[in-house]
Amino acid sequence: MNIHLKSPTVSRTRGSWTKLLAATGTAAMLLLAAGQGDAAEVKPIKVDDKSFKCLKDMVKVRHFYVDNLKGNRKATIAVAEKGKGDYPVGSVVQLIPGEVMVKQPKGFNAATHDWEFFELDVAKEGSTIRKRGFVDVVNRFGGNCFACHVKARPEFDLVCEMEHGCDPIPITRRMLAAVQKADPRCAKPDTLTQDDQKALDELGEVLKTMTMPSAPPK
Ligand code: HEC
Repeated sequence: MNIHLKSPTVSRTRGSWTKLLAATGTAAMLLLAAGQGDAAEVKPIKVDDKSFKCLKDMVKVRHFYVDNLKGNRKATIAVAEKGKGDYPVGSVVQLIPGEVMVKQPKGFNAATHDWEFFELDVAKEGSTIRKRGFVDVVNRFGGNCFACHVKARPEFDLVCEMEHGCDPIPITRRMLAAVQKADPRCAKPDTLTQDDQKALDELGEVLKTMTMPSAPPK
């Protein structure tokens, strides 16, 4: 009974595949070729200035913010909440307005586990990509994103948090929270409390003397 019900469906499916292949023969062959090619041929997710937004419009998990450029927010949030595992393609992770990690498709960059690192300039008008890349992006403090983040143990997919094995940064969570609140891209920025302002002043002092462990020679 079951078999009888199923067989017409199967042949119809096969029929439409044949038609589809006939119609898009060249495209299909190109796709196959791309699939067999090396990592350089994996099609990247398009990321431009408009891909980024005010932190408050992303989803906050613990002390950082996530989103997904492929509409797969749920899967990204699930990994972030779990606190370990591989982030899905399209994931966007931010701790402060000016630094972002975006997960490119699998096979894109083996060293960075397909994460692309971004440094942004942020202003009321929005974000401008200042630097982007894989193993060679250096932030405005002279630190190489990858050099620090790769030290996270494998189960954390290059996400550092505080105890994942990365070199620590001399910036406290209190300072980070104030920087997050002060994201200039937000339509309605939060009002900074006196304590936030104090944290920002303290951060200013830290930044004056901060050295990055992976700073390149000057
Ligand atoms: C000196 C080492 C170091 C450098 C350089 C560095 N980071 Fe991080 N990053 C960290 C640490 C440590 C944390 C976690 C801080 C915390 O949770 O309080 C972090 C947190 C983050 C997070 C939040 C998710 C996470 O991993 O916890 C993102 C996103 C991020 N960094 C992106 C970047 C980008 C992009 C660059 C380069 C433009 C960069 N970082 C440079 C050490 C570094």
